[in-house]
Amino acid sequence: MSRLSDPCDAPLEDVVRKAADQLSSGKPAEYIMGRAAFLGLQLHVGPGVFVPRPETETLVLLAEQGIPTMRSSEATVLDVCSGSGAIGLALASRLPGIRCIGLDSDAICISCAEASAQEAHLEQRVRFVRANVLSSWNRAVEDLEGHLDLVVSNPPYVREERLAEACLSSPCEPVQALYGGPSGLSFYRRIVAQAHDFLRPGGTLLLEIDDGLEDHILELFSKYGMEDGHWQPDFQGLPRYAGAHRAR
Ligand SMILES: C[S@@+](CC[C@H](N)C(=O)[O-])C[C@H]1O[C@@H](n2cnc3c(N)ncnc32)[C@H](O)[C@@H]1O
Repeated sequence: MSRLSDPCDAPLEDVVRKAADQLSSGKPAEYIMGRAAFLGLQLHVGPGVFVPRPETETLVLLAEQGIPTMRSSEATVLDVCSGSGAIGLALASRLPGIRCIGLDSDAICISCAEASAQEAHLEQRVRFVRANVLSSWNRAVEDLEGHLDLVVSNPPYVREERLAEACLSSPCEPVQALYGGPSGLSFYRRIVAQAHDFLRPGGTLLLEIDDGLEDHILELFSKYGMEDGHWQPDFQGLPRYAGAHRAR
């Protein structure tokens, strides 16, 4: 057994020094390890891939609690802006009846998500498609219009005035994973409009949001005829989740 006080051999010391330098320059520990822990899964991540956050674990738990029928049925879920695949893979690992499609525009994200799906033996039920979700979703998932039980998303949502601060606190993460347009709403406008068409009647839309956007998101729900629009706070008490249903 080795102790912290034991002298270590030179290569190990080099590895530790290099990791310490990377950490102090702001590189996430997850990029150094190549893995991120998320609701019991060890997901593949690396430079170019947004590291999934604890707030998003709560989004998954809300999806699971809010849609009790998903536990028993063969629900179909779309994870929009899927990144590492965290949301879809965690849902599929917890709900054996569901199948999930993740959409992301980034090729590195898609290959990390696919590697994680394989490793978790979820590749039969979770697949990832490279697509720009700001264009029509028909090209990516044409057969699913009007059939989805759940659309869930943690899209880029940082608005212009918060971007510099966000880039400072996440200096190594890709800006395209963070920036949600001047008002932070670019992705939500598209997602709410398309979710309305792709959800089955009574299907659920669940979003992670930035605080300060909640009233705008509720307006978008009304504009597109989504019912029961509401938001919920995160563990700091800030508005962080918003949900609605497609009318039956
Ligand atoms: C905030 S990250 C969230 C990733 C993941 N859902 C999570 O919660 O960890 C947003 C993701 O949106 C993706 N993205 C950015 N622009 C996109 C676009 N136009 N179409 C599809 N995905 C996009 C980024 O590649 C990134 O993976």
